[in-house]
Amino acid sequence: MKILVTGGAGYIGSHTVLSLLENNYDVVVYDNLVNSSIESIDRVEKLAGKKVEFVEGDICDKDKLSQVFKQYKIDAVIHFAALKAVGESTQIPLSYYQNNVHGTVCLLEVMQKNEVNDFIFSSSATVYGEENDIPYVETMKLGTPSSPYGASKVMVERILADLAQSDDNFRGVSLRYFNPIGAHESGTIGEDPKGIPNNLLPYVAQVAVGKREKLSVFGDDYETKDGSCERDYLHVMDLAQGHVAALDWLNRHSDFSGVEAFNLGTGNGVSVFAILKAFELATNKGIKFEVSPRRAGDLPAFWANANKANKELNWQADRNLEQMMEDTWRWQSKNPNGYLV
Ligand SMILES: NC(=O)c1ccc[n+]([C@@H]2O[C@H](COP(=O)([O-])OP(=O)(O)OC[C@H]3O[C@@H](n4cnc5c(N)ncnc54)[C@H](O)[C@@H]3O)[C@@H](O)[C@H]2O)c1
Repeated sequence: MKILVTGGAGYIGSHTVLSLLENNYDVVVYDNLVNSSIESIDRVEKLAGKKVEFVEGDICDKDKLSQVFKQYKIDAVIHFAALKAVGESTQIPLSYYQNNVHGTVCLLEVMQKNEVNDFIFSSSATVYGEENDIPYVETMKLGTPSSPYGASKVMVERILADLAQSDDNFRGVSLRYFNPIGAHESGTIGEDPKGIPNNLLPYVAQVAVGKREKLSVFGDDYETKDGSCERDYLHVMDLAQGHVAALDWLNRHSDFSGVEAFNLGTGNGVSVFAILKAFELATNKGIKFEVSPRRAGDLPAFWANANKANKELNWQADRNLEQMMEDTWRWQSKNPNGYLV
């Protein structure tokens, strides 16, 4: 089976491409490299001992996308390509809606024209918004996220629901990721944010390697166990395998049409201070930090109810916090400058 992976050179995409290859799927990566490097694909090819077709292109470029669908016989699409920095999305919301919403519509149009119906979408826990109780369950209504980034994910989920209503052939899966961290156990591929990292773990790892002076912990007075924010961290390789599980689920359910959402998380909330402790324990690296004021829009705590993915996809996040920390550190210490070689 041939899978088109948009955004496949990025963090989650590259780990998923590796899992796909290991499960005997053929892969075509389509990426404009706005937030990634082609080096990730070279390394995935070496790890898997298999070839990946790579096309540099933008999902908004329908002509180029059409060529790809014509040239390769694509059976299904996994759609990672998006801008993903929550803070930046409040500064340049139009770019986020253009890229994440319009870009997805372009991709869906080209898929429909080429009669490709199977679609797996990178959604996010952010679609539960600020109003839902924790843990989040798929039966909850879509919420109102505080950022344009989050809103773009809600909009795409709505578009998928409308498309499924109008087109009996459409077979969509929205995977709502919680907080992926870690790296492939080889330390060969990992998260390589451009500029100052927005996420906790890359920042922690860059402090550990001496690239940043200290971490800011945003708020220590939340109503949580230790006052810092709690999130549901899962290993990126577990998340990657969740995509293989979703493809297998689509293949098993040949009579399915519509769109189905699954939470991909561990089901546990872990605090920022607990992450710092776990990182220090796993790596023997003390992390300098200071407590800063809360960040606007940060929720105190959320985690997944992952029962649906456990039961229906036969998937669960197996790797523990220690592995997440060790693998993050292996990647960061072996590649202090990321993919810059
Ligand atoms: N990392 C997380 O914590 C997280 C959590 C929830 C959801 N997600 C979603 O998962 C997906 C992948 O995230 P990631 O962390 O791997 O991000 P990433 O930035 O590492 O990967 C995204 C990839 O998409 C590419 N891209 C962006 N816009 C494009 C366009 N218009 N055309 C072609 N390629 C384009 C980038 O170059 C990059 O390679 C995104 O949709 C993101 O919103 C991520």
